[in-house]
Amino acid sequence: MTEFEMIAKTFQGLEEILAKELIDLGANGVAIGNRMVSFKGDKALMYKANFHLRTAIRILKPFLHFKADSADEVYEICRKVDWEKYMDLSDSFAVDSVVYSEDFRHSKFVAYRVKDAIADYFRDKYGKRPNVSVANPDLTFHIHISHDDCSLSLDSSGESLHKRGYRQEAMEAPLNEVLAAGMILMSGWDGKSDFVDPMCGSGTIPIEAALIAKNMAPGLFRSSFAFEKWKDFDRDLFEEIYNDDSQEREFEFSIRGYDKDPKAILTAKRNAKAAGLLDTIHFEQRDFKDFEPVRERTVIITNPPYGERLVEDDLLGLYEMIGERLKHALIGGEAWIISYHYECFDKIGLKPSAKIPLFNGALPCELRKYEIFDGRYNDFRGGDKRLKKDDLPTRRSSTLRHKARLAEKQEARSNEEKPFRKTEGGKPFHKTEEHKPYRKTEGGKPFHKTEGKKPFRKTEGGGKPFRKSEGGGKPFRKTDKKPFRNNKK
Ligand SMILES: C[S@@+](CC[C@H](N)C(=O)[O-])C[C@H]1O[C@@H](n2cnc3c(N)ncnc32)[C@H](O)[C@@H]1O
Repeated sequence: MTEFEMIAKTFQGLEEILAKELIDLGANGVAIGNRMVSFKGDKALMYKANFHLRTAIRILKPFLHFKADSADEVYEICRKVDWEKYMDLSDSFAVDSVVYSEDFRHSKFVAYRVKDAIADYFRDKYGKRPNVSVANPDLTFHIHISHDDCSLSLDSSGESLHKRGYRQEAMEAPLNEVLAAGMILMSGWDGKSDFVDPMCGSGTIPIEAALIAKNMAPGLFRSSFAFEKWKDFDRDLFEEIYNDDSQEREFEFSIRGYDKDPKAILTAKRNAKAAGLLDTIHFEQRDFKDFEPVRERTVIITNPPYGERLVEDDLLGLYEMIGERLKHALIGGEAWIISYHYECFDKIGLKPSAKIPLFNGALPCELRKYEIFDGRYNDFRGGDKRLKKDDLPTRRSSTLRHKARLAEKQEARSNEEKPFRKTEGGKPFHKTEEHKPYRKTEGGKPFHKTEGKKPFRKTEGGGKPFRKSEGGGKPFRKTDKKPFRNNKK
């Protein structure tokens, strides 16, 4: 199959983990950029990227690179595109835009001009224009402008890939699934020891951990991907990818999620049930102050309240208690905690062995790693090596907000791609070729989804995932039963 250029978008701080995921998936020419990773692969890889990547939020397929320094110039160039290669008059479409350029101050205006160009292309040819749909377009085009470099892409994902499809309900301040998975992958936890989230809220971290432990694709529960509406959609190829569970594995350790709020535990259970993981994760209402000693090598990954969206009466007291519990109940294990305020981290009173900057939405946070040794470890508050102010990064404010401002400025300056960064394993990332000429999609009939199609992954009762037989035993993907995607043929 022909290889083409693709872009996987992600959150700031997750680029290297995403690059590693892409290399593991078989992508070529993987190059890290700012909140994105570019790569090359064929159509099968594009389907796999959407279905298997845990840290991507969308996969774009660029099809035209050009230079322009005004919205009108963008319009003129877009008028000349043969849009019928990608859509029919009867298809609805949307255009989104990302602009880093002095010349294009209003990214929305650029998107309008691309929409005008598409509409005028069809009007000239047929006297009618296709509909624009913001909520549920058949096709979404993406225009990206950096200085005067413009790229037009097709969005192959549709809804953001963090929307896995298992979330039935959320508590306040749920963690984004992509960020949760990124934190777990960064920790290196691979299902070979026990795992706990003692403040699990709606269960996002334990559920993502279970998907990783069992090597289940995060896309299993989604009802659709945008590429299914493309003219060149290869249904058989996607079914083959979708039905291949050969890489899934058994999990022999435990995953536990606790929260002091009983409603959180109910919600977490509902979400885990929708992912078919209720048997894999043990959820229980429990205050972290009652956290009991765990087995060696247990990994805790958690997202405590920061006092921003979730207000705590005694936020600093909570973090002090977290530090005390970690020291006494996690001996021989490690904890990864994401938070927003330096004061909160200070209160934990343990010396972190890693500090990783990460954004949780708009909040510039840090993920800190704490390795807990036995009682002789005296880095704890009160020991000789008490955590000193000097050990912490210089701060200009009590929060990490200044980092956000710095990051914004840097982003405005920086180009999108930073070539040749190395992964841990030493494999260099190669910058993808620039300015690829206009690309043709492969021919083929348009595939129109039938209306009213239910999300396929759920049973009627909304409970068990479609893949498990009633007895909770064998997944049915390997049986001769037709997978859901065949039944409308
Ligand atoms: C930011 S939320 C976690 C969100 C979660 N990661 C999700 O995706 O839904 C923090 C959670 O900590 C819980 N919490 C606060 N204090 C706690 C304590 N002392 N023990 C256990 N849970 C606590 C809250 O009830 C809340 O659900």
